[in-house]
Amino acid sequence: MAVRVEGLHHVYGSAGFAPRAALRGVDLAIGDGERVAIMGPTGSGKSTLVQHFNGLLRPTRGRVEVDGMDLWAPGRDRDHRLAEARRRVGLVFQFPEQQLFADTVWDDVAFAPRNLGLDEDEVAARVERAMALVGLDPDLGRRSPFSLSGGQMRRVAIAGVLAMMPRMLVLDEPTAGLDPRGRESLVELLLRLHREAGIAVVLVSHDVDEVAAVAERVVLMRDGRIAADGPAADVLTDAALLARCRLNPPATGRLLGALAARGVPVNPRRVQPDAVEAELVAAAAYLPAAPGSAAGRAGAPPGGDQAPRHGAAEDVRHRGPAEDGRDAGGAAGHGGTGSGDGRGRRQAGRGEARS
Ligand SMILES: Nc1ncnc2c1ncn2[C@@H]1O[C@H](COP(=O)(O)OP(=O)(O)OP(=O)(O)O)[C@@H](O)[C@H]1O
Ligand SMILES: [Mg+2]
Repeated sequence: MAVRVEGLHHVYGSAGFAPRAALRGVDLAIGDGERVAIMGPTGSGKSTLVQHFNGLLRPTRGRVEVDGMDLWAPGRDRDHRLAEARRRVGLVFQFPEQQLFADTVWDDVAFAPRNLGLDEDEVAARVERAMALVGLDPDLGRRSPFSLSGGQMRRVAIAGVLAMMPRMLVLDEPTAGLDPRGRESLVELLLRLHREAGIAVVLVSHDVDEVAAVAERVVLMRDGRIAADGPAADVLTDAALLARCRLNPPATGRLLGALAARGVPVNPRRVQPDAVEAELVAAAAYLPAAPGSAAGRAGAPPGGDQAPRHGAAEDVRHRGPAEDGRDAGGAAGHGGTGSGDGRGRRQAGRGEARS
């Protein structure tokens, strides 16, 4: 077990201000190699919670354990426990590029391993590995971090944390302020870190689509407590629960839900993008082909003879392409081509394995 918090309370207090309870009794365990998202409204305690995962904040009450070490238990080795926790659990703050400071990218990424007292060969090996993991060209090492784009600076900051070789990477709103391509490539980076380096990923995010792509488990916070904790497919498809936490379901989930409500045989509980795509590709066989598409010219949508599993799909067919059929027919047309079909099957296989 990597991180466990028990009965965790955190009260912020400063002179002249009323104490503010940010965490009010949180119990949570996150294991090695998990992909977890922490979501919830502004002020619900997400950032406060994750700063406890490596001992950056001290609990007002409760316990924090990293790999079974009780971080705050009294004892002469407490500093050692805290240092060890910070090595094992890497925390990437919001807008981490604001903390870059060195003259070169290389020196910035090397800062933490040098602080560990490692020899320069080991430092160099770690810097190279971390830069490769985040997809930064080694030539950038000589540049000033401040000459890079926002997305590249964020990668430098993440590489600086990865150079500690943590087993868990915790990122607080890592895509905030990035453009859509930057967001997408950061999501890919997180999935790659998990897949290739086996690192557990904990993502604090307000973006349900991003969470659907990254997380297999979702923890919802509200008023300093955990409101829900479960598989992404359960939490992200529970519209009432999401609404209570001021979140909307992912767009893909709404799409599958609308199709399912019309009797198209899709599983509306898919949220991971590859799994959603596989559902849509499979469902294309039950939707009308657009006139003029390859499938339409052939006279029937692929798989059309197998009759819809639910009557309502028949309704969709009769209403024709002018209404619901336009997009769906296009999908059916793609399904009719050899390459589209093969891709669909591969995606279906991947989706099933992952979700
Ligand atoms: N340094 C601080 N001093 C005093 N109060 C704080 C401090 N940091 C956070 N708080 C308060 O603690 C509560 C929880 O804040 P926290 O930043 O953990 O929420 P959050 O879920 O991360 O919110 P957001 O989505 O806006 O980032 C809020 O009421 C906040 O105002
Ligand atoms: Mg926050």
